[in-house]
Amino acid sequence: MDIREKIHNRSAKIGVVGLGYVGLPLAVLQAKTGYHVFGVDEVAAKVEMVNQAHNYILDVADDELREVVDQKLLEATTDFSVLQQCDIILICVPTPLTRNKEPDISAIVKVLGHLANYAHPNMLVVLESTTYPGTTEEVILPALTAKGLTVGKDLFVAFSPERVDPGNAEFKTHNTFKLVGGVTKNCQEISKLFYEQSIVKVFPLSSPRVAEMAKVFENVFRSVNIALVNELTLLCERMDINVYEVIDAAATKNFGFMAFYPGPGVGGHCIPLDPYYLAWKSKEYDVHTRFIELAGEINENMPYFVVNKLQRVLNQMGKCLKGSIIVVLGVTYKADIEDPRESPATKVMELLQKEGAELQYVDPYTPSLMIGEQQYKSQQVTPELLRQGACALILTAHSAFDYELIVEHAPVVFDTRNGTRDVTQHRERIVLLST
Ligand SMILES: NC(=O)c1ccc[n+]([C@@H]2O[C@H](COP(=O)([O-])OP(=O)(O)OC[C@H]3O[C@@H](n4cnc5c(N)ncnc54)[C@H](O)[C@@H]3O)[C@@H](O)[C@H]2O)c1
Repeated sequence: MDIREKIHNRSAKIGVVGLGYVGLPLAVLQAKTGYHVFGVDEVAAKVEMVNQAHNYILDVADDELREVVDQKLLEATTDFSVLQQCDIILICVPTPLTRNKEPDISAIVKVLGHLANYAHPNMLVVLESTTYPGTTEEVILPALTAKGLTVGKDLFVAFSPERVDPGNAEFKTHNTFKLVGGVTKNCQEISKLFYEQSIVKVFPLSSPRVAEMAKVFENVFRSVNIALVNELTLLCERMDINVYEVIDAAATKNFGFMAFYPGPGVGGHCIPLDPYYLAWKSKEYDVHTRFIELAGEINENMPYFVVNKLQRVLNQMGKCLKGSIIVVLGVTYKADIEDPRESPATKVMELLQKEGAELQYVDPYTPSLMIGEQQYKSQQVTPELLRQGACALILTAHSAFDYELIVEHAPVVFDTRNGTRDVTQHRERIVLLST
């Protein structure tokens, strides 16, 4: 049966490789759409959790996972040979950086090592992991066609970036518009047809390279704009201007402005990493992406700025950082999610630890945390804990925090996220990044 017909009548079997923040929601969505889905991950513990419908990703609804597992529409495994039975493979493995901030696509290459054995005629393979422009055609394609399959004829290959925003209550996998770039016209047509079954809007592009570039551009755009507002914050601090008032004022313009907010740095698996994929690739073309490097430099400096300012805040109170208890509030990379990856809070806490501060932290999403050699356990926000500390340092403004209580009981609150914006009492105790 032709792959188009299998897509239409839901008899196509789907293999989702990598069951993380991107892969698990995608696997559940495909199963809900009516396809039989094999979720493949190299971590046995994750596979076991999925098969027991034990949810570990906040963006996946517990009952939806339970339903697709009970109906046997989603089965997880560590055994890559199931890919042989699959008509469509979606690759969602991590794409981190090396220590020297160069692309590390070793997880993709490892998956290709398996896939090369199981690729068969009439198969569609889509890379969803974020990567540098050129990966699909330069890395994926040669590995899959090595055994004689012809792309566009009996093998279909595309890049379709995952754009999901973890924790976003409005936009989930099914209603986040999708880009697809196929290697040939047939690849593009088939991958578009496939995604249209489950995603509200799909935009076909002329090539995988355009889709790969569009995805990294989206993240560079965020990184550069965050850096711009972080730089403005440093200036506002010197000039004693409230940067949030400035941003709100600029946002009253009814066209041509988009608000970005400052913070103690950038985190997650996208903004701190993806721009460097493009910066690395651009060197092959004798282009130096100075905006990307500059944005990275400014954003990476923010944790140092926070620690420096905290020292000044304590100094004004006649205290020093060494030996002071700092109560850190929020350690995930952004509010209301459980993802600690690349969180600037970790960097700030490392720097504070090096300066001899005593750390306590509170985060409802992170029960324990390693900083350097030391393991910390999340505490409850109580008046006693707040009074014990020299300062409450808000690094991630979870909506679960009681900001009135924090400001009432902490001697001083250094709020790097403006989480206390609605607090009306004791505002003199609040220090913002810029004031
Ligand atoms: N998290 C996000 O917000 C987000 C958003 C858009 C795009 N992305 C991109 O999606 C990709 C995946 O990100 P993620 O956040 O889901 O990562 P993740 O770390 O949450 O999940 C990746 C999964 O892949 C598994 N894995 C690693 N190597 C494997 C291998 N060789 N074979 C099989 N499984 C393997 C891991 O065990 C893990 O379960 C990355 O390229 C990322 O940049 C992430």
